[in-house]
Amino acid sequence: MNMHVAVQARAHQLDPQTQTFAADVLDGLSQPQKSLSPKYFYDDAGSELFVEITKLPEYYPTRTELGILRDRAAEIAALIPANAAIVEFGAGATTKIRMLLAAHRVAAYVPVDISGDFITAQAAGLRRDFPELAVYPVAADFTEPFALPDAVRDLPKVGFFPGSTLGNFEPHDAAHFLGSARAILGRGARLIIGVDLEKDERLLVPAYDDAAGVTAKFNLNVLRRINRELGGDVELPAFAHRALYNRDQHRIEMHLVSLRDQTVRILGERIAFRAGETIHTENSYKYSLDRFRALAQQSGWTLQQSWMDADGLFSVHALEVAG
Ligand code: AVJ
Repeated sequence: MNMHVAVQARAHQLDPQTQTFAADVLDGLSQPQKSLSPKYFYDDAGSELFVEITKLPEYYPTRTELGILRDRAAEIAALIPANAAIVEFGAGATTKIRMLLAAHRVAAYVPVDISGDFITAQAAGLRRDFPELAVYPVAADFTEPFALPDAVRDLPKVGFFPGSTLGNFEPHDAAHFLGSARAILGRGARLIIGVDLEKDERLLVPAYDDAAGVTAKFNLNVLRRINRELGGDVELPAFAHRALYNRDQHRIEMHLVSLRDQTVRILGERIAFRAGETIHTENSYKYSLDRFRALAQQSGWTLQQSWMDADGLFSVHALEVAG
C-alpha cells in the first residue's frame, strides 16, 4: 500500500479488509489500462446478482455443470477413494457438493472460503442433512497456501473446484493454483474440477451480456461498492457494461466503459477518464479439452476422466497426481 493510500485509509478509519480494497482499487485505476479484480464483485448485493445470473436463460454454465454432476454422479463418485475427505476450494452454495455427497459416502467435507460466516452457516445445513458427515470449515483465501484441519490429515483427499472459477485466473496463475492445490491435498490426491469450454461467440457473449441486463447490474455494482465503502462519488449512469470475446486469448472480458470525459473522486484521489476509456473488470477464460489437459499436465496432474454435456458446452474433469 503506498503512503498516500495508507494515510487516506487511516484518515477514513477503514478496517483492514477495506484498506486492502482501497489500495487495490486506487492501484488498479491508476494503471494505463484501468482494472479492478473480479473478486470485488461479491459483496452482498453482488452475490445476490450472481445467483440471479446463474438462472438467466443465456447463462448456460451453472445449469450445465449441475446437469453433468447429476447425470454422472455415480461415475464421478466411483473415483473417490473410500473414507475420503473432500476439500472444496471457494465453497459457495452447497448445491453442487450435495450431488456428490448423495452419490457417495465420504468421511469428511472441508469447505474453504474467505467468508467464514457464510461457510459456517452452510456447514450447519449439511450436518443436518448428512448426520454421518464430519464438516470442518476453513476460513481462508484458497488462492494462498492454507493448512488443512488435523482431523483429515490421514484421510485421502479429493479436491472439488466447480463453477469454472479457474476461468478467472490468468493461465499462469491457473497453473500455479493447480500446483499448490496438489501440494495442499498431498499424496494420492484427486481433483474434481469444472471448466467452461471454448465455443461460438454467439453463445458465449450473450451469457455475459444478457437481455435482462442482470450482468450489467452485476458489473456496475462494483462501482456502487466503491462509492459505499470508499466514499466514492462515481456516477453509475456515466458508465456502461461491455462484454466481448477475446479470441486470441480465449477469454470473455468484461469492462465498464466511461460514457464521457469525467473525473471521479475515491478516498480523496481524483481519477480521470476519457470518453470510451474502460475499466477491465473480469476475464473468464474458456478452455478446449487439449488446452486444459496441457494446463493440468504442466501443474503435475493427469486427466483421469472428463465428462461433458451433450452439446459440449461445459466440462467436468477428474485429475490425479501425475507419476
Ligand atoms: C464465477 C467466474 C465462473 O466467469 O462465468 C458470470 C462469473 N461473471 N457472469 C464466470 C461471471 C459474469 C463467473 N465465474
